[in-house]
Amino acid sequence: MTDTHAAVERTLVLVKPDGVRRGLSGEVLRRIEAKGYALVAVELRTADDDVLAAHYAEHEGKPFYAPLVEFMKSGPVLAVVAEGQRVVEGFRSLAGTTDPTTAAPGTIRGDLGRDWGLKVQQNLVHGSDSPESAAREISLWFPAL
Ligand code: RTP
Ligand code: MG
Repeated sequence: MTDTHAAVERTLVLVKPDGVRRGLSGEVLRRIEAKGYALVAVELRTADDDVLAAHYAEHEGKPFYAPLVEFMKSGPVLAVVAEGQRVVEGFRSLAGTTDPTTAAPGTIRGDLGRDWGLKVQQNLVHGSDSPESAAREISLWFPAL
């Protein structure tokens, strides 16, 4: 590796409505910062249909799509852009696997989430799954960046 800046990335994190309702926004930000990532943008907002349809386009048609969009509109979300070396992969590791019941202890979902009755929707956070997804999602949530 000659260019040590080659892997500096940005990722989009959402603290989902369950996380905001439970007062865990600060805990998620704390874990992002404790890991050493920089906060580039942080904004509390209520998502509308347009942004959610674009954000979850890959899941359109799946059985969990409509309830997922309803859940994501059920309260404010904290939208965050974080930056750092390999942060896309790094935040996914901090978040843990999708299902909070079995997500590893030490992860956000593993430590703080469980099955609250709405399947795996309520898993506290979203994190972009690739640098390409991150670029698309950041331009969607923060067009000025
Ligand atoms: P995310 O996009 O939120 O970071 O989560 P992920 O990559 O781990 O999961 P993904 O497959 O992208 O699914 C997006 C979100 O949809 C909900 N989901 N429900 N079978 C189900 O009921 C189901 N599967 C997925 C979860 O909220 C998941 O995070
Ligand atoms: Mg995903």
